[in-house]
Amino acid sequence: MLHSLVPRTGHEPEDWKVKCISIRKRAHSFYKRLAAFEYRYLILELNLMGKNPKGAVIPVLNLKGQYQALQDEIQLAIQKVLSTQSFILGENVAALEEEIAQYCGVAYGVGVASGTDALLLALKAAGVGPGDEVIVPAFSFVATADVVGLLGAVPVFVDIDPASYTIDVSQVKASITPNTRAVIPVHLYGQPANMAELLTICEEHGLTLIGDTAQALGADYHESPVCSFGDFGCISFFPSKNLGAYGDGGMIVVKQKEQADLLKKLRSHGSSVKYCSEIQGWNSRLDEIQAAILRVKLPYLDQWNLIRAEHAAMYNQILGDVDGLIIPKTMSDRTHVFHQYTVRVPNRDAVRAMMLESGIETAVHYPIPLHLQPMYRSLGYRRGDLPVAEKAAEEVLSLPVYPELEDSQIERISLALRAAVESQVEVLLPIEA
Ligand SMILES: Cc1ncc(COP(=O)(O)O)c(C=O)c1O
Repeated sequence: MLHSLVPRTGHEPEDWKVKCISIRKRAHSFYKRLAAFEYRYLILELNLMGKNPKGAVIPVLNLKGQYQALQDEIQLAIQKVLSTQSFILGENVAALEEEIAQYCGVAYGVGVASGTDALLLALKAAGVGPGDEVIVPAFSFVATADVVGLLGAVPVFVDIDPASYTIDVSQVKASITPNTRAVIPVHLYGQPANMAELLTICEEHGLTLIGDTAQALGADYHESPVCSFGDFGCISFFPSKNLGAYGDGGMIVVKQKEQADLLKKLRSHGSSVKYCSEIQGWNSRLDEIQAAILRVKLPYLDQWNLIRAEHAAMYNQILGDVDGLIIPKTMSDRTHVFHQYTVRVPNRDAVRAMMLESGIETAVHYPIPLHLQPMYRSLGYRRGDLPVAEKAAEEVLSLPVYPELEDSQIERISLALRAAVESQVEVLLPIEA
């Protein structure tokens, strides 16, 4: 329906085109808002009917509400796959690859077994191997760095920008050596990293840019999907992600057919023709049932992301004036899809325990920065080397932000957090003589 607003002849004067694009954008944004409103209403109704009972504890993530809302569609999609008995790389995987590629504004998607495998295959396709260095932020889920070592290469950790929690671009520049082959920025918590500067650096030095978009599907950078920036966009469909499967799953999005063909070979033991392996590969495939479920969910992703942003705005409004608490900051040239709504608090573990006593679960993403993980001891990093990541690891606290939360729950969480933080600020105040 929205496409009919765009002129089809291609001969209209320029100002017409601009007007049409703007109308389409506004219509799309209006449609998304309406859909988000309808979804929130549906959840409210389900809650009132007692289908999704609210316990005393507010979990940090509750996927049951979303399942209740989509149950009929999902069960039908699964049944259809069962009736075909085609489970691996079938029509749903092919269709999802096209749909995700289109959603990300790129030409190709290649479904794989997980977000970790998406990163691993992207590095392998980029030719990364023993003796190479790959620059990664010190503050992320461990998968970002783990894959580097699996290929015999060395992760080189750099610090993060304290405002966005994404890779510090000036440190990327300073860490490049003749062995550097690739950079993996992580769009942490759902906010894109500074891709413009990273693109320039990677172009200047001939490095591959691999976006870890595990947490940021749907986020925009400079008004384009963040997954479309760089050479490879690596997506995770882990169940807790903004677009989550009912098991593991992942996808790599790329712009060129040769890259897609290579990735397809890598995910199937290096073969494009059955039983003929041309290169070293392995088995990393997205299965049909997961793809079918994800195809049901994809049309809802924008409205869910919008609701997450509304929740974040509500938290920001209530928590903005709490002494000692730092709320998330969204950079002006990007959108944030709030995979996590993560604040920073003094005495984080005490605050967390108090929240739990008030019946509110929270999470810590992540308690140990990557350069201090025991598995990287041999690389010789020490506490104090990357202080921004280290401090973040001590202070971050993620609050529930899933779309099915109700406003009343956000108020309850905010009030509990305010009380907990204020009690800690008092504890931490210097005692006057
Ligand atoms: C930033 C980041 N990178 C990579 C991954 C790995 O994805 P998966 O769990 O699908 O392997 C995750 C997910 O947990 C993640 O959050």
